[in-house]
Amino acid sequence: MKDSKAMILLASVALLAVAQAPAADEGPEIYATLCAACHGHGPAPLGPYPALFGNEAVRNVGPIYVALKTLQGAGNMFPLCAVASDEEVVGVANYLAAANGSLVPAISVLDIADLRPAVGDCPPVRR
Ligand code: HEC
Repeated sequence: MKDSKAMILLASVALLAVAQAPAADEGPEIYATLCAACHGHGPAPLGPYPALFGNEAVRNVGPIYVALKTLQGAGNMFPLCAVASDEEVVGVANYLAAANGSLVPAISVLDIADLRPAVGDCPPVRR
């Protein structure tokens, strides 16, 4: 009896951990929603927009590079800090890093909390 209670407790803790983990498998969906219109889906640049697949910077610098660009924007890319949640930034950053074969470890929402203040004021979105 004691054992089965412990099992149930363990199972609930495991479920909670899964529920709170950044949703890496939502990466493709987040990418499609927030990024693909400009960056496309393949290794060929879409007009003036750099391709994010087969991208050396993403592979070498890893997920934090994607997270930073997402939050603060770059050139004609408007900052998405007011649009993307911490979980979405993590999801798309880890997804793109992995898709580019990056060996840099995945990031978590804690890393985004550290990054947000560095991004400073978050301008409203132009769409
Ligand atoms: C409105 C169009 C637009 C959208 C939407 C957009 N970007 Fe960008 N992005 C750009 C442009 C333009 C650049 C190049 C800026 C420059 O010249 O430095 C860029 C650059 C980048 C870079 C740097 C690429 C490199 O080779 O150094 C990354 C990483 C990036 N974007 C990630 C994202 C992610 C992730 C999303 C979605 C969450 C996103 N972008 C959404 C337009 C966009």
